[in-house]
Amino acid sequence: MNVLVTAGPTREPIDPVRFISNRSTGKMGFAVAQAAAEAGHSVTLIAGPVSLPTPPGVRRVDVTTALEMLAAVERELPACEIYVSAAAVADWRPETCAPTKLKKNVMDGVLRLVPNPDILKTIRPLKGARRFVGFAAETGEPTAEATRKLREKGLDLIVANDVTTPGAGFAVETNRVTLFFPDGRREALPLLSKHEVAQRLIECLQSL
Ligand code: PMT
Repeated sequence: MNVLVTAGPTREPIDPVRFISNRSTGKMGFAVAQAAAEAGHSVTLIAGPVSLPTPPGVRRVDVTTALEMLAAVERELPACEIYVSAAAVADWRPETCAPTKLKKNVMDGVLRLVPNPDILKTIRPLKGARRFVGFAAETGEPTAEATRKLREKGLDLIVANDVTTPGAGFAVETNRVTLFFPDGRREALPLLSKHEVAQRLIECLQSL
């Protein structure tokens, strides 16, 4: 199958030297791309700004901002059967990006933000027979938020991680996740390497 994966953070510029972003390193999404390629799938990986090597056999598209990630997803989506959205897309961006470095004495301490589009919600009308998988990054017990996101984003599966759990979430080599399905089923996985989590996810997707 053709699998499309997004990974890493997005970076939203304030001026040529500053940005807002988040703590995603891309490790989880790159592990999904690698596990999918190892399982014999044809994989396109849309990566935010991260410093990770491309997994063998994976086609990589680099982007920086949420708007660029959305454009890349819209371009790649027609050729894919499964879309796994592991990226930590910035929900907000500065209203304007200054063309030159902002001087301390012209800044008033207020940064005006505007919402970024939700990529999964934007492409939902194009879903057709495709499988869409999301991740939910929560700070605390994830059930309520994960099931809300599963429903509101029209997903076939959501992978929830409590990013405050030791060994889970951002920047670490391991993750502890629970898979939530639209029929109410859920499967809690133990603490595993991100590669093992990704392998379990790909196995699960093959049987969806
Ligand atoms: O990259 P690592 O350091 O390995 O960290 C892994 C991770 C914590 C980033 C990963 O496991 C994870 O949880 N990824 C999703 C992070 C996230 O943005 O979660 P969310 O709950 O805010 O978003 C829910 C879903 O909507 C996600 O599938 C997200 O990709 C998607 N989304 C979010 C915002 C947006 N504007 N568009 C989207 O499509």
